[in-house]
Amino acid sequence: MKKININTQSRSYDVNIGKNVLTKMVSELKKSDGEVLFICDKNVYDLHREKIISLTDSRKHHLYLFNSSERNKTLKSVELIYKYLKKHNFSRTDKIVAIGGGIVGDIAGYVAATYMRGIQYYQVPTTLLSMVDSSVGGKTGVNFLNVKNLIGSFHQPEKVYIDLAFLSTLPDREIISGAGEIFKYAFLSDEENYLIIRDYLLKILLQRKFHENMISRCIQFKASVVEKDEFEKSGLRKILNLGHTFAHGFESALRFKIKHGEAVIAGVFCSLIISKKIGLITDLELHKFASDFEFLPVNTKVFRVDTENIIRYMKSDKKTSGIRIKLVLVSKPGNVFIDVEVTEKLIKESVVELSELFESV
Ligand SMILES: NC(=O)c1ccc[n+]([C@@H]2O[C@H](COP(=O)([O-])OP(=O)(O)OC[C@H]3O[C@@H](n4cnc5c(N)ncnc54)[C@H](O)[C@@H]3O)[C@@H](O)[C@H]2O)c1
Repeated sequence: MKKININTQSRSYDVNIGKNVLTKMVSELKKSDGEVLFICDKNVYDLHREKIISLTDSRKHHLYLFNSSERNKTLKSVELIYKYLKKHNFSRTDKIVAIGGGIVGDIAGYVAATYMRGIQYYQVPTTLLSMVDSSVGGKTGVNFLNVKNLIGSFHQPEKVYIDLAFLSTLPDREIISGAGEIFKYAFLSDEENYLIIRDYLLKILLQRKFHENMISRCIQFKASVVEKDEFEKSGLRKILNLGHTFAHGFESALRFKIKHGEAVIAGVFCSLIISKKIGLITDLELHKFASDFEFLPVNTKVFRVDTENIIRYMKSDKKTSGIRIKLVLVSKPGNVFIDVEVTEKLIKESVVELSELFESV
């Protein structure tokens, strides 16, 4: 079992990764006094019923099943959970446990952040994406008016428990989506990390192999950033948004018919194309990055999106101030630039070039 401690300004907490972590979580919860609401993804419940029942098998444990989708990641769903909590007299000393992917984690986290001005919550991520990224760092929230994560708050979990066995049932497309969030880490540290991440992604996508080390490397990197800039104030945390302004534009413009991580893959490549267009990298370097990661599938839906529509949603992104679109760009792994203002023309050209890039590698 691996344990990573995350020490943020607001809270210090452990991420436990391994085979028997859920047993450890349950015995801990049984020792504590209050009630516990397990908000569990409905698909995860159907596929891992025995495991989930064993977790929730206590008089003080309640089970709330949630149909995860971006369309359900709304204030309406939050309200239904508040109603459940109120009906069962949950108080500030009680807890929430989120079992599922990033959607359950974000929504349960938002409920925990706001119910009675904040109660404790645990994260039990069950998708690759949520294991390597969304279950740590404390960003919680919901979509609003078709804009991704427009409403939200920072609320760090009390504990995170990662059981890789959940990944055995994850559909291939969700594995690709998780790979999208891992891909961005390749550009955020240094050359050595770039190669390690590439190797992990090959193992994940070509052999469906997952190791604790892959998960812990990503979490440790994210933790090192979040510890220094928990609330995205100094700007450092913005590096984690590489490819994300594009991704949110693609997701909204395609009405969420593309997975978040798939949108991130396309978004990172578009950001690299813009990096080339403004002279941060050469054409040769761009092609090298593209051929190093040619095994990463790019969802071709992004080639057909109306670019005006992408721009419209990119402008609604939280990371955009006023009407200027600001992006995270890179000149080489570890050399990351935040808040780079780019023109709409460059953005449109990069989406067009994305399909050409993949035809040429
Ligand atoms: N808070 C953050 O820091 C942060 C970071 C990155 C992404 N996110 C958010 O995370 C969300 C995406 O998360 P996601 O990719 O985990 O999506 P998700 O939660 O929708 O899960 C993807 C699909 O996999 C199913 N599923 C979950 N676990 C499974 C399992 N073990 N076996 C089989 N099926 C399973 C779910 O039912 C769902 O259909 C987005 O809304 C994104 O905005 C948040």
